[in-house]
Amino acid sequence: LNFQPTKFITSAANIRQLPDDAGVEIAFAGRSNAGKSSALNTITRQKALARTSKTPGRTQLINVFEVTEGKRLIDLPGYGYAKVPLAVKEKWNLALSEYLQKRQSLRGLVLLMDIRHPYRDTDQDLLHWATDCGIPVLVLLTKADKLKPSQRKSTLLQAREAALVFGDGVQVEMFSSHNKLGLPQVEVILSNWLNT
Ligand code: GTP
Ligand code: MG
Repeated sequence: LNFQPTKFITSAANIRQLPDDAGVEIAFAGRSNAGKSSALNTITRQKALARTSKTPGRTQLINVFEVTEGKRLIDLPGYGYAKVPLAVKEKWNLALSEYLQKRQSLRGLVLLMDIRHPYRDTDQDLLHWATDCGIPVLVLLTKADKLKPSQRKSTLLQAREAALVFGDGVQVEMFSSHNKLGLPQVEVILSNWLNT
């Protein structure tokens, strides 16, 4: 699948405002600042498809992109942002778990984690929710360029080990939007998800 023609479709303030639950889609989730929007731009080879920011919490809306007709990529708002009130966080967690449970077109979840801080609380919640519903998960250890090759390798092995408790529906890869590390692997997995 060629991701380059991907276009922005719409922003949704909540799950109910998403496009009709038809076709197939992949959701990108992760803590604020994990590199979700950057990863989307890298995968689609576009500089500014998804807005990136040094300020955590930049993506407050659900942004919907279309690769080709009926094949979507969904950029979910980041979680774990300290300045968001607790009530808002709880509401969003509820919406996320509902989305994972009910969305028929959802073929996979890309869960992005900064390679220097993997498996934080909400990351683990999301892994539980997704794997409990039988949704395949690709854990991407982002900003891999921040570590030396030897550290990267050992972190990847540890992260794969840690993923085993969630069953066999979880794959773990490294990724860097800065030097495109892991991009070929990610493309293969996403293409498979969208072509089934
Ligand atoms: P929210 O929308 O706030 O949830 O953040 P996000 O997960 O979309 O993160 P975003 O892609 O905006 O990136 C956050 C910051 O991390 C930016 O300053 C990016 O330049 C930086 N960043 C993203 N990917 C990489 C990477 O692969 N390597 C390095 N070194 N920095 C990265
Ligand atoms: Mg973002």
